[in-house]
Amino acid sequence: MRALYKPAAAPGFELTERPEPTVGPDDVKIRVMTTGICGTDLHILKWDQWAADTIKAPLIAGHEFYGEVVEIGEDVRDVRVGDRVSGEGHVVCGTCRNCRAGRRQMCIRTESVGVQRDGAFAEFVVIPETNVWVHKDDTIAPSLGAIFDPLGNAVHTALSFPLVGEDVLITGAGPIGLMAIAVARHAGARKIAITDVSAPRLELARSVGADIAVDVSSMRIREAQAVLGMREGFDVGLEMSGHRTALPEMIDNMNHGGKIAMLGLPAESIDIDWAKVVTHMLTLKGIYGREMFETWYAMSAMLSSNAVMRQHVESIVTHTLPASEWAEGFRLAGDGQSGKIVLDWTA
Ligand SMILES: NC(=O)c1ccc[n+]([C@@H]2O[C@H](COP(=O)([O-])OP(=O)(O)OC[C@H]3O[C@@H](n4cnc5c(N)ncnc54)[C@H](O)[C@@H]3O)[C@@H](O)[C@H]2O)c1
Ligand SMILES: [Zn+2]
Ligand SMILES: [Zn+2]
Repeated sequence: MRALYKPAAAPGFELTERPEPTVGPDDVKIRVMTTGICGTDLHILKWDQWAADTIKAPLIAGHEFYGEVVEIGEDVRDVRVGDRVSGEGHVVCGTCRNCRAGRRQMCIRTESVGVQRDGAFAEFVVIPETNVWVHKDDTIAPSLGAIFDPLGNAVHTALSFPLVGEDVLITGAGPIGLMAIAVARHAGARKIAITDVSAPRLELARSVGADIAVDVSSMRIREAQAVLGMREGFDVGLEMSGHRTALPEMIDNMNHGGKIAMLGLPAESIDIDWAKVVTHMLTLKGIYGREMFETWYAMSAMLSSNAVMRQHVESIVTHTLPASEWAEGFRLAGDGQSGKIVLDWTA
């Protein structure tokens, strides 16, 4: 099969022929149709310190995907050949305390598809049946199916706290921040403000329904509050940039009792005003991955029941390229000026 392969612990990928993965008793083999390019994949391509510390090479990367089931193991019960599916990329142990309690997103031994085991930048991928998400709605297009993993990050983060009637601040209008706008709107937010430093991403944010899209290189969030007619501060913050300056400014703009869900992964340590966290009684919550599988139910239900939200989420995929043009796809994903980039493995 064709696969985007990292042969050794060094920068780069090569698009080459690899043996097809084999199916164990509990596994499902999927013919990959589309894959999303994620920030994680950019780290794996570049082979930075995080990649060197985390990845087992040789490796086929890729964890955001959609495709068709072509083979099932003998003990697979609910997934059928021909099903159209996406995949949960966190393979959990099943026996740690959290797994046994049903909190699988908190597994202490999570192994990630396309990071610690072969992933989906290939014509076929194999994952356990428990990680397969079967699309019951057959109108989910392959490009939308490819981004269920990051949409799940947006949904998990945005639904961490009740949003009905709340003023929401999202920092970072990358693909996940953009998706969070659509989710927060569906969930009943009043005003939605989003920040970034990329003009095209701020424009995308306006088109998917943000009330104000703030370029924090030239405008303060405090001024945005005034534009929106807000007087007391945001009720809920969704940190989706990982940038060092985003969380401190968010904390300065929260109402007392405000709640912050943090998805963005900082590359360095961040200094925040802890006295303000204490005296303003703020809640800070870290978010990792997707809830298994309540997040998946929620996102499928929202996309199927709300055509506007679905159209907004679909519009966040700004480029779909044939897999042979993977290098251009990675270039676009890395320059921070577009929405989500999807590779088509059927082309
Ligand atoms: N916790 C998890 O499970 C998980 C999963 C996926 C992604 N992530 C992280 O979530 C974040 C969002 O993911 P993404 O794919 O949308 O990433 P992304 O890197 O495309 O988006 C981040 C955005 O933040 C913007 N930004 C930079 N400086 C800023 C600032 N000072 N204020 C506001 N925005 C600023 C960038 O221009 C960019 O558009 C990343 O940090 C990513 O590493 C976490
Ligand atoms: Zn991803
Ligand atoms: Zn576990």
